[in-house]
Amino acid sequence: MKKSNIALIGFMGTGKTAIGAKLAEVLKKEFIEMDQMIVERAGKSIPEIFAEDGEIRFREYEIQVCKEVSQKKDVVIACGGGVVLNKINLDYLKQSSVVVCLKATPEVIFQRISKDGKEKRPLLNKPDPMGEIHRLLEFRAPFYNAATEYQVDTSNLTIDEIVEKICKIYESAQT
Ligand code: S3P
Repeated sequence: MKKSNIALIGFMGTGKTAIGAKLAEVLKKEFIEMDQMIVERAGKSIPEIFAEDGEIRFREYEIQVCKEVSQKKDVVIACGGGVVLNKINLDYLKQSSVVVCLKATPEVIFQRISKDGKEKRPLLNKPDPMGEIHRLLEFRAPFYNAATEYQVDTSNLTIDEIVEKICKIYESAQT
């Protein structure tokens, strides 16, 4: 069956939001940010959820939102970086989405995250964010690798080049 959605997964700072927004524009689909949906459901920011309710509660919201988006059509979804940690999330996403994993080197991730402000990302809001990036990337690499056969390294490409690659993947995945 044709999948009408694209779900972008990958570590923080790999470009899911910027690329997802552009991809949605090109493919004339709606753009959805999973973290934004969680903020709306919880009625508070991501750092507040982590601080007040804990990471496990955040992961529960994430599962709930994955289930909700699996019922949508013609959307591009920028998923949170930890979506791969619960297999059920990928099961939901794959029902209606071609799942593409974005990658980047730790240096590029660090640069992009420093620009955004690390206080937005509780997992990296630590005394040694670069060390955390390395540690989390190493732990999560098997999860990202196993999540999907479609992997795109965004470190040295422009947004337009990445969008073009993903459009090709999306087409090829339908046949
Ligand atoms: C997280 C990534 C964040 C956000 C939360 C947890 C993670 O999303 O969901 O801070 O576990 O990697 P982005 O990847 O959009 O920054």
